[in-house]
Amino acid sequence: MAEAMTLNRFILSTEHRHPGATGEFSALLSHIALAAKVIQREVSHAGLVDVLGATGAVNVQGEEVKKLDVFAHEAMIRMFQYPGLLCTMASEEEKDIIPIPEGFPLGKYILNFDPLDGSSNIDANVNIGTIFSVHRRRSQSGPGTPEDCMQPGTEQVCAGYVLYGTSTMLVFTTGDGVHGFTLDPSVGEFLLSHQDIRIPKRGSIYSTNEGNYHLWPDGTRRYIDRLKTIDKAKNLPYKARYIGSLVADFHRTLLYGGIFLYPADSKSPKGKLRLLYEAAPLAMICERAGGAASTGSERILEIQPEGLHQRVPLIIGSADDVAEAERYIQGKE
Ligand code: AHG
Ligand code: MN
Ligand code: MN
Repeated sequence: MAEAMTLNRFILSTEHRHPGATGEFSALLSHIALAAKVIQREVSHAGLVDVLGATGAVNVQGEEVKKLDVFAHEAMIRMFQYPGLLCTMASEEEKDIIPIPEGFPLGKYILNFDPLDGSSNIDANVNIGTIFSVHRRRSQSGPGTPEDCMQPGTEQVCAGYVLYGTSTMLVFTTGDGVHGFTLDPSVGEFLLSHQDIRIPKRGSIYSTNEGNYHLWPDGTRRYIDRLKTIDKAKNLPYKARYIGSLVADFHRTLLYGGIFLYPADSKSPKGKLRLLYEAAPLAMICERAGGAASTGSERILEIQPEGLHQRVPLIIGSADDVAEAERYIQGKE
């Protein structure tokens, strides 16, 4: 059997491609992998914690029982407050940016993250995930600023997600291909399992919450209606798949092809998903795998963020499917 390629060996083997690499970036990725293992351990016995939590607000170790979102949020913060890799970070669970504590070294990177994606699925034991996005700081020195976090997706130096499912996978890109690593719990290492992932140019699966159909604009409805017509020559109808955890729906789309849509609607004209730590990182991954990511009218990666928790419509997946959806949404078809 070929020598197993661990995440750390993979990161070090690509370090030479980044002139002037100081090892900080490699350390940052290794810390993300460690945070993923810490969260995965908690996810793996979430149901039991709930049972324990039912005996009051403490578990058998006398620790406060935390909701998984809060646990994951705190695990990410604890992982990155001290090693001197970041100058600030932003989380879905925190209104403002999260400073590095006084007296601890500041790094040149910033981290935007969704610590636990798919929270509504936790109690049903359905796949959930963590999404992360890394930028270089723009401010010259001192504590990072909100502007350091609010950079367009094109400026990301790394984007990735962790999927806690039948196995735990870490998928990321630093701009040079998209690579997937699967956690081998027996050795506690993420091993390279999906090198250079490419998304099919067109798929045959669509993924969206059709419960919002009545809220969609006409073009969106016509696009989804078309995917359900019968036209063998055009490989229609598509199959419908919707998990309700963005990371899981996106991961399937990345591997199998097709399209995921959380479109604008009359209730949420800006869409539901957040730009900084959901749409932008997945858009970088999708584009680097040969796919596309749009609001329906604008490339996700080119949007200049105006707020840490800014929402955007997200149409993401196979290039041909996204282009076709855009034509319908823009009324060109
Ligand atoms: P989060 O759990 O981080 O708040 O994200 C939930 C998001 C995303 O995971 C998913 O695609 C979407 O919410 C599902 O929304 P609906 O329940 O409205 O379909
Ligand atoms: Mn989310
Ligand atoms: Mn979340």
